[in-house]
Amino acid sequence: MSPPTRTLTVALGERSYDVVIGAGTLPQLGEAVARATKATAAAVISVAPVARRYGAAVSRSLAAAGLRSHGLLVPDGDASKSLRQAARLWDALLARKLERGAVVVALGGGMVGDLAGFVAATYLRGVAFVQVPTTLLAMVDASVGGKVAINLPRGKNLVGAFHQPRLVWIDAATLATLPRRERAAGLAEVVKAAAIRDAAFFARLESAGERLLEADPELLLPVIERACAIKAEVVSQDEREAGLRMILNFGHTLAHAIETLSRYRGILHGEAVAIGMVFAARRSEALGLAPPGSAARLEALLRRLELPTEPPRFPRRAYLSALAVDKKRMDAQIRFVALRGIGRVESVPLAPAEILPPTRAAGGPAGRRA
Ligand SMILES: NC(=O)c1ccc[n+]([C@@H]2O[C@H](COP(=O)([O-])OP(=O)(O)OC[C@H]3O[C@@H](n4cnc5c(N)ncnc54)[C@H](O)[C@@H]3O)[C@@H](O)[C@H]2O)c1
Ligand SMILES: [Zn+2]
Repeated sequence: MSPPTRTLTVALGERSYDVVIGAGTLPQLGEAVARATKATAAAVISVAPVARRYGAAVSRSLAAAGLRSHGLLVPDGDASKSLRQAARLWDALLARKLERGAVVVALGGGMVGDLAGFVAATYLRGVAFVQVPTTLLAMVDASVGGKVAINLPRGKNLVGAFHQPRLVWIDAATLATLPRRERAAGLAEVVKAAAIRDAAFFARLESAGERLLEADPELLLPVIERACAIKAEVVSQDEREAGLRMILNFGHTLAHAIETLSRYRGILHGEAVAIGMVFAARRSEALGLAPPGSAARLEALLRRLELPTEPPRFPRRAYLSALAVDKKRMDAQIRFVALRGIGRVESVPLAPAEILPPTRAAGGPAGRRA
């Protein structure tokens, strides 16, 4: 008997697709891919640590559903979100004679999803794409929404496309092998979803607390489902980030600055987001936008999830220039996503110096004054 699944729909007219959530469901993937894409051939793009564990189950399932499948590996790590790896994959798809009717399956975390999605968006002007996320972060965030990209030496995600998947297949049983630190980082985006949109969900996360760090599907399935539903809802209303979708950037203004300043080393994206959210919440309180205590509540939950909440020490001027969109115009305003209370955010235009006031008391990172 197949394990039960729950299905959410990302409503985008003719580009609508299902997000199917379950545990132990990789054996059913092939049938769902065949139904969603009508493809008869598939390229499964992955990294060794994931393919080693789950690649066989995926290719067996695809074969059982009548799809000829080809496994393609890229080196693990975000450096593979590159033009070089994309070109290698385009070549590999051509060499295997995959045509317009083929499907590209991303089996892995957000790195694989973004790269495979970029290749699917561009190969032969676009082929069908299916996400099989295996990290918590990819399940609740990266795999839903259709943003795909590669990095350039000058920065992350600078070349990409909107290419919606035809299906997102979440098997939460794969989280059992994900390192605890990666699970915690994924939980940061779950907390973000609750903080921006759903106070009751936030309270449920508080009741579960540290138990969320165990890879227990029973506990995680409803959490993944709610976080995905929030992302799906926001994306459905604003596919191309014209407005509402910006609220998903809560905590990300400072997070991106931290990632840039630490050159993406030693800190995971979710960890930077945890720090960024607490910072944003403190600033929101200081600006009178959020009721007192909101930041402390957010911080307490993140700490129980073993996430960092204090910005690493870099000079204030380094933070300011990392925050500035236009490095020559430090007064240029940034759309800062402010907390209005747990469960509600609002985007407000602020200049970097307003986001990061000179005194510590106002809640800025503990950097030296410039
Ligand atoms: N497109 C979007 O909307 C979006 C949103 C958020 C993040 N992203 C992108 O996602 C990427 C980060 O994703 P990530 O955090 O999933 O990182 P990742 O894909 O690099 O995966 C993290 C690590 O976990 C390993 N791994 C994956 N699944 C595993 C499993 N089940 N068992 C054991 N090990 C496993 C990987 O091999 C890797 O070493 C970044 O490139 C980011 O830009 C994209
Ligand atoms: Zn994020």
